[in-house]
Amino acid sequence: MSFFQLREGVTHCEDAPLPEIARAVGTPVFVYSANAMRAQARALRAALSGLNDPLIAFAVKANPNIAVLTVLAKEGLGADVVSGGEYLRARAAGIAPDRILFSGVGKTAAEMRAALAGGLCQFNLESFPEAELLSQIALSMGRTAPVAFRVNPDVDAGSHAKISTGAAHNKFGIPIGEARAACEALRGLGGLELKGLAVHIGSQLTRLAPLETAIARLGEAIALLRADGHEISTADLGGGLGISYDPSLPPPPSSEDYGAMVARLTRGWDVRLLFEPGRLIAGDAGVLLTEVVRIKAGVANPFVIVDAAMNDLVRPSLYDAWHEIAAVAPKGGEMVADVVGPVCESGDVFAVARRLDRVEAGDLMVIRTAGAYAATMAGTYNSRALAPEVLVDGADWAIVRPRRDTQAFLADEIVPPWLERA
Ligand code: LLP
Repeated sequence: MSFFQLREGVTHCEDAPLPEIARAVGTPVFVYSANAMRAQARALRAALSGLNDPLIAFAVKANPNIAVLTVLAKEGLGADVVSGGEYLRARAAGIAPDRILFSGVGKTAAEMRAALAGGLCQFNLESFPEAELLSQIALSMGRTAPVAFRVNPDVDAGSHAKISTGAAHNKFGIPIGEARAACEALRGLGGLELKGLAVHIGSQLTRLAPLETAIARLGEAIALLRADGHEISTADLGGGLGISYDPSLPPPPSSEDYGAMVARLTRGWDVRLLFEPGRLIAGDAGVLLTEVVRIKAGVANPFVIVDAAMNDLVRPSLYDAWHEIAAVAPKGGEMVADVVGPVCESGDVFAVARRLDRVEAGDLMVIRTAGAYAATMAGTYNSRALAPEVLVDGADWAIVRPRRDTQAFLADEIVPPWLERA
């Protein structure tokens, strides 16, 4: 069920009419449905309920807004963080330290120190030099750091090249064939406690087969480690399950299909399974609400120029991603158009030759499925404001991040005195 629906001809987010939000907050603005996120979190939890105390750690990078994290924390989700900043956000949202996983290839000493001081479930280490640094830091703090090695299973995730992470040439994890040697070498380092292994092969996966291969390889690696005498208590299966962007395509596997596959593959592993979903939880729970600035004639199709741009939602420019676009209050009729933003780049395009609701200047539109990897990847290119974020919960809604406009950015910048003219 979608939490963004037409009611009496006007798109609502839950019980809030989008034009009301646009009037009050201005456009472009991201609008999130709290209940859509809760529904996804509950569906995944139900799908994994046969497992022994699984930890669902939301990938904070997908949507780091603290209000969003608070909704998910109250649903019992933990957090997968990849920076000191994300760690702080997870804690600010009330996520308990023992529900926080720390991933990422480039953790710095300062980030390791902060997470160790604050506490966490485990660091997912991506190289041996990283283990050496963490060992030094843990020893200097008189702490023991819980760690897992993220392994690279050399699987083709079948997703866009820029969001596939599990092939041998990708920068992520240690080659799975080196896991035994790495864990053996870990015995020589103080201050670390090996918990298990982790894997994450990519994002927006639309088939379970690559995940199955990766999980099966992870299981084999765990068995080898146990044979070597290591106690393995966790296995982190990462995130990556895809969602539906284009309703005309077959939907990706459901949480239920995924849960059944995981249960089947991990039977008898005798570990706590950890999960790092991002997009699955938040992706379909958000839209980018935008206003048509003007329609401009084009050679092939007219351009619908909207007030959102690639700096607000970069996915179409960066990954050729397809997002559904619709009028907030369709007036009847259709048009075929390119939907573009105002940024001075030919790549600032949301849709090409798209069949759309007929719109004109001043009409509101929604760019759907913008709850994950959208506001979080926004920038201010062309000196554009950072779009605000609104959270809707039933009939209630609130600004959860105000618009940060150019005045605020100007105030941050400093002209050194030696450049000032007399
Ligand atoms: N765990 C790790 C270690 C990750 O790197 C990621 C995503 C996740 C979990 C969550 O993956 P998800 O369940 O959301 O697929 N900006 C891109 C997606 C980049 C994903 C990066 N890592 C996009 O807009 O499609």
